[in-house]
Amino acid sequence: MRNNEFAATMVEFLKVYEAIGFEFLPISGKDEIFSSQIEPDSVTEPIDNSNEVMTLQAIRHEIGHCKRCKLHKTRKNIVFGEGDAKARLMFIGEGPGADEDEQGRPFVGRAGKLLTSLINKMGLKREDVFIANVVKCRPPGNREPEQDEVKACIGFLKSQIASITPEVIVTLGTVATKAILATDRPITRLRGEFKDYKGIKLMPTYHPSYLLRNPSAKTVVWTDALKVLKELGLEAPAPAENAGA
Ligand code: URA
Repeated sequence: MRNNEFAATMVEFLKVYEAIGFEFLPISGKDEIFSSQIEPDSVTEPIDNSNEVMTLQAIRHEIGHCKRCKLHKTRKNIVFGEGDAKARLMFIGEGPGADEDEQGRPFVGRAGKLLTSLINKMGLKREDVFIANVVKCRPPGNREPEQDEVKACIGFLKSQIASITPEVIVTLGTVATKAILATDRPITRLRGEFKDYKGIKLMPTYHPSYLLRNPSAKTVVWTDALKVLKELGLEAPAPAENAGA
């Protein structure tokens, strides 16, 4: 059986278990082939890994089939984040939307396409950076994540940052900036100037969804991106090289 056929069969198999009420496979922990893949059940407290640097794989394992907040009830997929585990640059958004929930990948919808084109315009590829969100499950109807949901999830994002140790973080929009910097100042006042997050340079800028509604703000986001490139010792490619971005 080819890999994708095997995966499809496994998905069907797991759906049957789920449909009859199982939350995990009834397999002995001694079974090596599955034990490394079984994720732990949820715990009620957010984790605090401030003293322990975990690998991204370990963080994903810790998240498990998370039920730490109410978002688990409506999500299709946990959107962990993706990119280079040792990226120099990390982008942080708010939380998955419908497309992200469907695909289990961050920033793949309309706002995501805009973020991807910004990354490309900076002379980078999505695989060169790491893209994550404050909450890993979709808030229904694309509402903002609520305080209890952010509280339940933010520890994982902080662990991801500690694991990746980027040189620069770009927070996209108010929710991400507030969650990381614990500030109440609006994004209009915060954007464009580097802040400090545990010794990492953090550039708050507008969220791509805001840019979809206000395309003229793309100019200031590009100004912010140029500051980020400078901080990384990189230059944006000449405009001719990114025609169409
Ligand atoms: N908006 C976000 O904040 N994150 C995503 O992953 C997609 C849209």
